[in-house]
Amino acid sequence: MTQIPNLTLNDGHTIPQLGFGVFQVPPEDTARITGLALEAGYRHIDTAEMYGNEKGVGEAVRSSGIPREELFITSKLNNGFHEPDEARRAFDRTLADLGLDSVDLFLIHWPLPTKYDGDYVSTWQVLESFKADGRARSIGVSNFQPDHLARLARETEVVPAVNQIEVHPYFRNEEARSASRDAGILVEAWSPIAQGGVLDDAAIVKIAEHVGKTPAQVTLRWHLQRGDIVFPKSSSAERMAENADLFDFELDDQAMETIGGLDQGEPGRTGPNPDTFDYIPG
Ligand SMILES: NC(=O)c1ccc[n+]([C@@H]2O[C@H](COP(=O)([O-])OP(=O)(O)OC[C@H]3O[C@@H](n4cnc5c(N)ncnc54)[C@H](OP(=O)(O)O)[C@@H]3O)[C@@H](O)[C@H]2O)c1
Repeated sequence: MTQIPNLTLNDGHTIPQLGFGVFQVPPEDTARITGLALEAGYRHIDTAEMYGNEKGVGEAVRSSGIPREELFITSKLNNGFHEPDEARRAFDRTLADLGLDSVDLFLIHWPLPTKYDGDYVSTWQVLESFKADGRARSIGVSNFQPDHLARLARETEVVPAVNQIEVHPYFRNEEARSASRDAGILVEAWSPIAQGGVLDDAAIVKIAEHVGKTPAQVTLRWHLQRGDIVFPKSSSAERMAENADLFDFELDDQAMETIGGLDQGEPGRTGPNPDTFDYIPG
């Protein structure tokens, strides 16, 4: 795991290209499972207020004994707290629940263009203030479409460091991905193995057999070679190790193209469409 590359964000900070995601890890299991991931060598953890498990992540970080500066911790603003005063209170709670003075990356989880009178701009400006006061070393967005990024570029100061969007072989999400990369925004590919959905794909299985790796490893390697950041989730120590064992092989151009050619466009999307998603947790 010593070989995990660091990528440089547009604000000069670095981010480990491979991390560990804790979406759908039950709160009561999060300290143990995140602890296993840290033991396996992961140093980048992706959580969110909406996952309800920031406390468990904080507990794992504290009991790991790993120096804070060796860890990269991301969390995200929940959909119910976009109004500026609410966003400030929510961020205070996130830091308190994690038990940290600062996070390495804080994101707007969803743009919610049909909520808050379509105003994600003032929410972003609150995140700019978290970066200015040092409590978020870097700030970014998640699930932002090209027009959302363009509006932030026109109306605000800080360019998001990342855009965390759904990307996997069945949904390359190329428009949002290109708009991000063209603006100097690194792409974080969520559900990188489509929650397991691409692992029995015949083309991926064939490439895996050819290179002597598993379908999950081949799919994760495809993301890394495209320059995106990934943080696969697993509850098993064995699969955590498998998902991190990505640095002793390379996919050739033909394999990269074959996997890229599996894109189904919009029907390949597994999660909500950010243009219409308006879920506010109760
Ligand atoms: N910003 C957003 O809106 C958003 C949305 C979704 C996800 N995310 C982030 O992205 C992270 C990853 O996405 P995800 O959790 O949705 O999906 P994922 O990482 O693509 O897939 C996780 C699923 O695949 C299984 N799995 C993992 N490794 C495997 C392997 N080597 N072989 C076979 N099965 C394997 C896991 O089962 P086991 O646990 O049983 O191993 C789990 O069911 C999340 O944890 C979260 O941090 C962000």
